Amino acid sequence: MTAAQPLLAAVDVHAGYGQHPVLHGVDLAVAAGESVALLGRNGMGKTTTIRALIGLTPISGGSVQLDGQPVTGLPAHRIARLGVGLVPEGRGIFPNLTVAEHLAVAARSSGGRGPAWDRTAVLALFPRLAERLDHLGTQLSGGEQQMLAIGRALMTGPRLLILDEATEGLAPRVRAEIWSVLARIRGEGVAILIVDRDLPQLLHLCDRAAIVVKGRIAFQGTAAALAADRAMQQRWLGV
Ligand SMILES: Nc1ncnc2c1ncn2[C@@H]1O[C@H](COP(=O)(O)OP(=O)(O)OP(=O)(O)O)[C@@H](O)[C@H]1O
Ligand SMILES: [Mg+2]
Repeated sequence: MTAAQPLLAAVDVHAGYGQHPVLHGVDLAVAAGESVALLGRNGMGKTTTIRALIGLTPISGGSVQLDGQPVTGLPAHRIARLGVGLVPEGRGIFPNLTVAEHLAVAARSSGGRGPAWDRTAVLALFPRLAERLDHLGTQLSGGEQQMLAIGRALMTGPRLLILDEATEGLAPRVRAEIWSVLARIRGEGVAILIVDRDLPQLLHLCDRAAIVVKGRIAFQGTAAALAADRAMQQRWLGV
């Protein structure tokens, strides 16, 4: 792969819900192995951007390419199989499946081309899950559910891992554990696109950042450039 061809490239993406347009031309690129923070105030379109990129929300205009191949309009399961793992807002854990079953189902549906994570590797990342293999989704704490959501995404062998508010509502110690695991995942060469409220941690983890304002990308640049620009943080993130 050349530097000119990003792993994920979205150009002028438009999407919305029914008659309600939300994205008005989103341009976003993630290179192989790169980590990118997707930022913006509440309701600006971060989750919709993620969903549109991976086929969960239909696109009404623009294009998405993965590894140079057009994936615009492909169903989400096909895009997932090309090596995109999602850790969704709200975690998406099934109440009546056990930890072991969540991981097994993800492994069966895998076909990703990223680093191989098997159950042993995932349980090494999250030792708490190893102690709870036969617990149901409902029996897990919020932090354990989040770890399982990440582990499940890794089992599909993603080249790109997308996380939407993966530390939301968790205790500080659990949040710290998740940030440290994300750094290890990044170290394995997996590209990351991440939405989170913790700007310092995002700037620490990520190479680049993009800010969504009313369904458009208002800024896209290095994490260092965003870190240095307090005025931009104030204007678009309110921090
Ligand atoms: N399922 C839906 N049906 C209709 N409108 C929706 C739906 N989901 C989101 N929206 C609207 O789309 C806009 C963008 O929402 P989105 O969830 O993408 O924002 P966000 O940046 O992820 O916000 P948050 O920080 O609160 O998670 C908002 O105006 C929201 O009300
Ligand atoms: Mg959201």
